[in-house]
Amino acid sequence: MTAIIVGPTLCDNQFAQVEPGNVLRRRPYSRPWRIISLRDGRLHREWGNSCSKKLDRDCYGIYWVFGKRGTLGDYPWKEEVLMISLEINGKGYEVDVNSEVPILWVIREHLQLTGTKYGCGVGLCGSCTILIDGRAQRSCQIPVHETAGRRITTVEGLPADHLVKRAWIEEQVPQCGYCQPGQIMQAVALLSEDSSPDEEKILAAMDGILCRCGTYPRIKRAIRRALKEVGRG
Ligand code: FES
Ligand code: FES
Repeated sequence: MTAIIVGPTLCDNQFAQVEPGNVLRRRPYSRPWRIISLRDGRLHREWGNSCSKKLDRDCYGIYWVFGKRGTLGDYPWKEEVLMISLEINGKGYEVDVNSEVPILWVIREHLQLTGTKYGCGVGLCGSCTILIDGRAQRSCQIPVHETAGRRITTVEGLPADHLVKRAWIEEQVPQCGYCQPGQIMQAVALLSEDSSPDEEKILAAMDGILCRCGTYPRIKRAIRRALKEVGRG
């Protein structure tokens, strides 16, 4: 079994490892759930009326590649349900979960910590950013088993009067708010890794967290405000 990434600008080369007759199944909890297959050298959707030579944007994501339909039996995530111990926001949890499920879904669906947001599901938008052992990570890309025994922090784990949260409020950063938990967690990681980041470092660190509302100038101001407040800016 191989994992491949199907991008919005799919070209044949991305499917070099896929044989005719293979079934591609989107990784669990990746959006939206689709099954596609390769027949006659073309990709076909398995339901609906449409077949397409190329996948469109709806279909991009991470897929598992299986052998011919009907020959594989169970999918791996059905076989790997484990009890996993997690430490999130200083609290211990035991979850019975498929070990390959991204930690994002365990946080949101199993533990109902919905502050962490799901955006692209393929590691590109940053809205799912959390801290793992103090470092900013994209939770949609990390299988839960890799986080066992590590220190996980979500936006709910920051106290209400946390320096960065206060700066965010004072600068009135959010617009729709969807990307903001990811922005805040990335900013917290930046401030803990670098005592006085310059403009370039701030931009580089925040670069991967997309904001569709364009709140970037306010984000920058809030980071500067937080730095000033602790005498580092
Ligand atoms: S949802 Fe994880 S990076 Fe977009
Ligand atoms: S505030 Fe709307 S996406 Fe960033």
